[in-house]
Amino acid sequence: VADEWDPLWRRWHERRAPTRGIHLDCAAAGRTSSATISAVAVHMRLEAELGAYVAQSAAAETLTGLRSDLAALFGLPRDGVALVESASAALRALLSCWPLPKGAAVAVAPSEWGPNLAAFAAAGMQVVLLDADEHGVVDIDRLQHRMITNPPALVHITQVAAHRGLVQPVATIARACREAGIPLWIDAAQAVGHVDTAIGPDAVYATGRKWLCGPRGVGFLGISERWWSSLQVQHHVLAASDEPTVLAMESDDANVAGRIGLAVAVGELLDDTPAAAYRRLDEVGAATRAALDGLPGWTVEPANGSAITALRPTAGQDVAAVRDVLLVEHGILTTASMPARAPHDLAEPLLRISPHVDCSAEQREALRHALYTNG
Ligand SMILES: Cc1ncc(COP(=O)(O)O)c(C=O)c1O
Repeated sequence: VADEWDPLWRRWHERRAPTRGIHLDCAAAGRTSSATISAVAVHMRLEAELGAYVAQSAAAETLTGLRSDLAALFGLPRDGVALVESASAALRALLSCWPLPKGAAVAVAPSEWGPNLAAFAAAGMQVVLLDADEHGVVDIDRLQHRMITNPPALVHITQVAAHRGLVQPVATIARACREAGIPLWIDAAQAVGHVDTAIGPDAVYATGRKWLCGPRGVGFLGISERWWSSLQVQHHVLAASDEPTVLAMESDDANVAGRIGLAVAVGELLDDTPAAAYRRLDEVGAATRAALDGLPGWTVEPANGSAITALRPTAGQDVAAVRDVLLVEHGILTTASMPARAPHDLAEPLLRISPHVDCSAEQREALRHALYTNG
């Protein structure tokens, strides 16, 4: 354990089993805590011992607490949150229930997550690109101008890009959208647990497995109350007659144990205080970029916050091969971000490094050394 650590992040580290190697890949999936893993296992055992539906009823308060905690992280009311399987499943659910005209235009930043663009196309929507500055940050003046001259039906913003350290100013974008009366959806898959997401958008969705360090297979969405009565939602025939509209968007069957695990993971974030985690992740991102600066054969992509660092190869390296060598020969887990992840922003692959709050100077040095010798 590095001496530089605050006791808070030492505790975060000690809540988890030791890693085999160096895990710098939270933007793919974070490291679940031992308490999270236990909660999943205990619930699965209860399903076998009591019966799955009895165990679920017994856990109703925990699940309601999870929806409340997630709602608070987004600045939305508790009844506006639904638990699903993934961020992609949440987006599909939103697209299927939102009152959008046929062929509606959805405005996105050039850094938009590629699979979201495919989901919009599959829904018959027309994607239009918002203007952004040279770093990829949405230009607010131009956004406001577009809202008057050529308004889209929807603005969709991926708050934190998956492939490089780019954070969109969603609070300012939300104000501009509200003034123009255009709904704003936020993809918070890389944002929740990482940066402040409590801005009360029209809709937001994410997954629990990344910066929240929840189990895989649990995603969620949130919808502002002003939309509840316009949603085209089908209540299950067996649902209670007073089921809240957004709750009807939850999957019929579910990984309940995973949801219980996520409740523990979110509880740990709240215990650490989210603002402290956001500050620490910002520091970790800056320290990673500083540690890799000047590395021969790579340039560090500029960032405006975020714990995500992207390295651009400058000596013709095959990024996917470098990622494999880092893992196999050095035990260092990273991601090769291929252009399909953000087709309007990524012309060539980048190496992504995404550590959590317990990343140490020794780990950054080990990565630099491994890249120096093999990359
Ligand atoms: C920005 C962003 N949006 C959406 C997703 C999709 O998340 P899921 O795999 O939970 O569907 C990801 C996953 O990496 C992502 O980074």
